Amino acid sequence: MKISSNNRWATAVGLLVCAVVMVMLPDVSAKRYIVGGNMGWTSNVNYTLWAGNQTFYLGDWLYFVYDRNQNDVLEVNKTNYETCNAEHPLHNYTTGAGRDVVPLNVTRDYYFISSKGFCYGGMKLHVHVINLPPPLAAPVKSHSSRFTAVKSLLFVSLVVAVTAIWDLLCY
Ligand SMILES: *[C@@H]1O[C@H](CO)[C@@H](O)[C@H](O)[C@H]1NC(C)=O
Ligand SMILES: *[C@@H]1O[C@H](CO)[C@@H](O)[C@H](O)[C@H]1NC(C)=O
Ligand SMILES: *[C@@H]1O[C@H](CO)[C@@H](O)[C@H](O)[C@H]1NC(C)=O
Ligand SMILES: *[C@@H]1O[C@H](CO)[C@@H](O)[C@H](O)[C@H]1NC(C)=O
Ligand SMILES: *[C@@H]1O[C@H](CO)[C@@H](O)[C@H](O)[C@H]1NC(C)=O
Repeated sequence: MKISSNNRWATAVGLLVCAVVMVMLPDVSAKRYIVGGNMGWTSNVNYTLWAGNQTFYLGDWLYFVYDRNQNDVLEVNKTNYETCNAEHPLHNYTTGAGRDVVPLNVTRDYYFISSKGFCYGGMKLHVHVINLPPPLAAPVKSHSSRFTAVKSLLFVSLVVAVTAIWDLLCY
């Protein structure tokens, strides 16, 4: 019958939205940046310009996507970033898959380079990580919009879920 299939559809959508929101929730306030955007982690990208386009907050993530046969992801100090010295990395994030995740879990400056000479060609990234502004004060426009987006998403999914559960109970 038409009505009962509508009910099932609403229930299914409601549950699906709930599940999606639950899975997404921990990630929404923290942002994951693909380093270099569509270009990824490679030569011929000016990462100073790329980083200047973003604001990095505590809890965000960097995602390095690159050719695992040629490049790597090393965190170095400022001096070694400037001189492209890969001999004493502070942290080697290279896992071998060409897909490495770096949690920006401290408010400080981070310096990354690729070794084997690629750093000299510009494969180096400096990221300045700052504290998240409190949601209610929200002086930073781009960031407050993240919270607004979460709230409206939550509201919509709540309405849908309640409707679906209502439908389910009234079968
Ligand atoms: C910076 O952002 C602007 C606007 O989104 C974009 O057009 C530009 O290509 C970006 N520049 C870099 C280096 O990513
Ligand atoms: C970075 O590490 C090198 C040793 O690899 C050291 O000589 C240099 O002073 C350090 N620079 C900073 C800014 O800590
Ligand atoms: C970083 O780790 C990878 C994978 O364990 C390893 O192959 C590579 O030699 C390391 N690089 C440096 C500079 O330590
Ligand atoms: C931050 O993440 C790095 C890499 O996973 C880890 O080694 C370090 O202990 C973490 N620091 C804090 C303060 O959580
Ligand atoms: C990136 O662009 C900036 C601004 O145009 C420039 O000063 C800098 O030298 C460039 N870096 C590289 C590695 O090309």
